[in-house]
Amino acid sequence: MRRIIYFLLVTLWSCNAVSAGGHGVALEAANVDLANKTSLQRGAGLFVNYCVSCHSASFMRYNRIADDLNLSEEAVQTNLMFTTDKIGDVMKVAMRPADAEVWFGVAPPDLSVIARSRGADWLYNFLLGFYFDESKPTGVNNRIFKDTAMPHVLWELQGLKRPVISHGEESSGHGAVAEVTQFETVIPGKLDEGEYKQAVRDIVGFLVYVGEPAKLVRYRIGFWVITFLLVLLVPAYLMKREYWKDVH
Ligand code: HEC
Repeated sequence: MRRIIYFLLVTLWSCNAVSAGGHGVALEAANVDLANKTSLQRGAGLFVNYCVSCHSASFMRYNRIADDLNLSEEAVQTNLMFTTDKIGDVMKVAMRPADAEVWFGVAPPDLSVIARSRGADWLYNFLLGFYFDESKPTGVNNRIFKDTAMPHVLWELQGLKRPVISHGEESSGHGAVAEVTQFETVIPGKLDEGEYKQAVRDIVGFLVYVGEPAKLVRYRIGFWVITFLLVLLVPAYLMKREYWKDVH
């Protein structure tokens, strides 16, 4: 028995060590809340306004968004559908992938399951992590995706920040700032830091939902299953008392 416990402890510890070793930079928790439909609705709005010009989410259909996020089809049609006019269509990208490849050197990937491959925390920190770097063609670099070809598409909201270089180092201009954690604002954004974090949390929440829409259905079913089991507990207990009455 002791051996088994020892084995389990060692296995758990090493799993932890592996997952912690994934990135050089500590990730801040995204804390997305899939039960918060308003946040998911805002996330959908931000996603279609700021992301589908380059990225598709080709596993997700607009009418499914309407159903899952408690939106009417009209609301989805007027507020969310810019790349198609069919409510049953998937979230297509506005630009042609071949053009995108010419412009950015790499085609922006489909984001349908990005939350499952990268994880919510990674996405959250990625969208928070852009900073000014004049050596890059896009003018920015990213704390956790070094030298990314993606421009800082949310810069108007977040503003632009520049790393504060400590220990007498000069900025090499090559994005060598993985260890830098201090940033100073160069251009202020429309949102303050808290508001921007919430906006990013909304987008990431939407991407988590897109990655596994059935999660919302499972939550709903799960609630009723547990309620049913709790209600069933009462007659089951009374029946048990009744049956065992004569035995004792
Ligand atoms: C102007 C085009 C453009 C827009 C708009 C854009 N992206 Fe990107 N994005 C890219 C490109 C190009 C890449 C590929 C970067 C690379 O591989 O270096 C990328 C990569 C990504 C990645 C990393 C994928 C991976 O794992 O390699 C994520 C996540 C992402 N984008 C999310 C978003 C989100 C969320 C938005 C909306 C807020 C958005 N993008 C808007 C161009 C864009």
